[in-house]
Order: sequence, then structure tokens, then C-alpha cells
Amino acid sequence: MYLLIDEKGRKYLVKGDKDMHTNYGVLTADKFTEENLGKILETHQGRKYNLIRPNILDYMAKGKRGPQAMTPKDCAVISGFTGIHSGSRVLEAGVGSGILSMYLANLIAPATLTAYEIREDFAEIARGNYKKFGIENAEIKMKDIYTGIDEKELDLISLDLPEPWLVVEHAKGALKIGGYLTSYSPSIEQNKKFVDALGDSFMHDTLETIQRDWDMEVVRPFSRMIAHTGFITVARLMKR
Ligand SMILES: C[S@@+](CC[C@H](N)C(=O)[O-])C[C@H]1O[C@@H](n2cnc3c(N)ncnc32)[C@H](O)[C@@H]1O
Repeated sequence: MYLLIDEKGRKYLVKGDKDMHTNYGVLTADKFTEENLGKILETHQGRKYNLIRPNILDYMAKGKRGPQAMTPKDCAVISGFTGIHSGSRVLEAGVGSGILSMYLANLIAPATLTAYEIREDFAEIARGNYKKFGIENAEIKMKDIYTGIDEKELDLISLDLPEPWLVVEHAKGALKIGGYLTSYSPSIEQNKKFVDALGDSFMHDTLETIQRDWDMEVVRPFSRMIAHTGFITVARLMKR
């Protein structure tokens, strides 16, 4: 895949196998080549596009959406506060549109991410995103995580579902000692119930991230911002 960025910063992902028709002319498929990466392509009407290689954040931004997908700032908290890396054993539930799972799978490759989901229509969207963006190390299990966890010795279990407190007992048996259980919820009431269920087996912190972008032309914050998305509790298993 290739990423084209126009003069206004708008991004377009293309496979490179066919011409791209824009409002300002055509970019022919023969221009989408490895040799042209880093160059500026021009339509026959003179509109300019930077051609670069896309990364996982571009795929997450362009992935098809079903239920609410996690934002990069929240994905970053999950990886940044749990230290997962290539080879980590990670389970996610529920998979939803598969946006967080693409991010996690990209980090832990060549290990395979397991993602539980209960709705086939959402699993189908996530599978479609994996296929489109070449994510080969994520597998979806149609399973209700409230009924139990099959995997053992996990480094991370990442939850984004309505009743995370119902997973705590199962997580104790499935995590490594020192492994992490994270829960993302839009309402603090959900985090409170989750934290209450953790008991004395886990150390935990609850936080939210508020992203304030700055307009560096006028050197002040933009008036619009991504403010509240969700609260994240990061819990670390101390004992079973
Ligand atoms: C908000 S979405 C997750 C979005 C995902 N984090 C993303 O970035 O695309 C929540 C998902 O949890 C699934 N879900 C709800 N309860 C579940 C359960 N008990 N076990 C597994 N999945 C569940 C829902 O069907 C839904 O797809």
C-alpha cells in the first residue's frame, strides 16, 4: 500500500494497482512504485501529492468502523503503561472494529494476538480490516469473555467492553504474575466497579488522557480538541 498526502494534509491510502481519480486530475497507477517513495507526484492538472509508505496509524485511521473504535492516544496508554513488545502474549476483548487489535498486533509481532468477540457482524468488520491492511498475526475467537479465558501465561489482557469487572477472576488465572489487565470505559462508574473487583491481587492506576493540539502558526491551542474519550485502568497482577 501507499499513502498520498495532498497540499492540505489530507491522506489517501491506495493499493497502487489502479489510477487514482481526484477532483484535480488523475494520478496514474504507474506512479505508485517503491522508487517514487519520498517524491512529489503531480496530477495532469498540477495538483501535488507526497508519496510515502503508510504505517499502522494510517491503517487505524482508515479502517472500517462498526462500534466505537479506540483513539491512538488511548491505544498508546495501553502499550506505554504495560510495556508490551515484540513477542508479548496478549489477549483483547471485545474486538469491535479491530482498531486496537491492529495496533497491538503490530507491536507484538511475530506473536499472535487473540481477540474475543461475541458479535459476528463486528468480527466480520475486524477481519476485513486485518485482511485489507495485511495484519496476519491477529485471530478472532467468537467467545464471551465473561464465561472464561482459555489462554494462560498472558502478559496483557486488554478490555474494552461494558462489564469489565466480570473478567477479573478469569484474568487472575490467565495472566502471568506481573502481567497486566487494562480496562477502557467511557464512564468512570464502570472503572469504579472494575477497581472494586480487583481486590488485593492487583496494583492499579486509573487515568484519562486529554489531547490538546496546538496551532503553531498562531502559537496557541486549537479551539477544538479530542477531550474525553474514556478512562483507562491499568492493573498489574501481584498474586493470585
Ligand atoms: C467498543 S467495542 C471495542 C472496540 C475496539 N477496542 C476497537 O478499537 O475497535 C466493544 C466490543 O466488545 C464486544 N463485547 C461486548 N461484550 C463482550 C463479551 N462479554 N465478550 C467479548 N466481546 C464482548 C462488543 O460486541 C463490541 O464489539
